[in-house]
Amino acid sequence: MDILRVARVIASCRFLVALTGAGISADSGIPTFRGDDGLWKRFRPEELATPEAFTRNPTLVWEWYRWRMSIVFRAKPNDGHRALAELESMGILRCVITQNVDGLHQLAGSRCVVELHGSIRRVRCTSCSYREELVEPPTEIPPRCPRCGALLRPDVVWFGEPLPSDAWNKAVELCSKADAILVVGTSGVVMPAASLPYLVKSHGGIVIEVNVKPSALTSVADVFLQGRAAEVLPKIVEEVKRFVTK
Ligand code: APR
Repeated sequence: MDILRVARVIASCRFLVALTGAGISADSGIPTFRGDDGLWKRFRPEELATPEAFTRNPTLVWEWYRWRMSIVFRAKPNDGHRALAELESMGILRCVITQNVDGLHQLAGSRCVVELHGSIRRVRCTSCSYREELVEPPTEIPPRCPRCGALLRPDVVWFGEPLPSDAWNKAVELCSKADAILVVGTSGVVMPAASLPYLVKSHGGIVIEVNVKPSALTSVADVFLQGRAAEVLPKIVEEVKRFVTK
């Protein structure tokens, strides 16, 4: 099924959602996790992205996150993010469910964004309820809570931690209603996020995948469009426009 036929499906579906992963932000200069130059090739996640690692060495974890934050704060949305925002403004895409913590969907104009893994732009206190949206990486690391003095941590989900329940419940509610899901730029190996396309499929929904190479979700996809999100998604939107303006 090529882009034209995908566009016809998208133009005619009743409740379209998207699930995105690091691949959609690759064209914004943000490293993915499991690609050839992925973060997990250079760093060990269990040393940097777990509660145990943070307890053991908060300074090391904060040095890594300060480096990642410096990349994210400089990054700009790309045509892939903008294409999803346009599909939402056309009334076709209901919501973006993202595993990404970079906030680029919101900066691209998407209004409904469910952040399953939190946001690297936000910190929270390890002791009290203090939370803060940052505009730049902290200068002092590890940063301390201005309210109670305890350590602040990135407001992201680490391995072994539960997803924010409101985000997960919203994602399940959306996928339970969806008759199509656009899966973009994810290796599909991290649960429970990767179970969402199966949820859509389980009630007869269509799974459309955009990725530069097959993923763990390609077997459940009805359509696999091979290519960069920043190139494929705008082409889909252009074709969808032909159908909706007829
Ligand atoms: N366009 C589309 N897909 C791309 C592009 C691109 N330009 N570049 C890379 N990809 C694909 C890769 O082929 C891969 O399938 O994006 C996917 C990125 O996979 P991962 O690096 O595993 O990222 P992701 O699936 O988002 O990881 C899920 O794992 O480490 C945790 O919390 C972290 O949210 C992350 C989760």
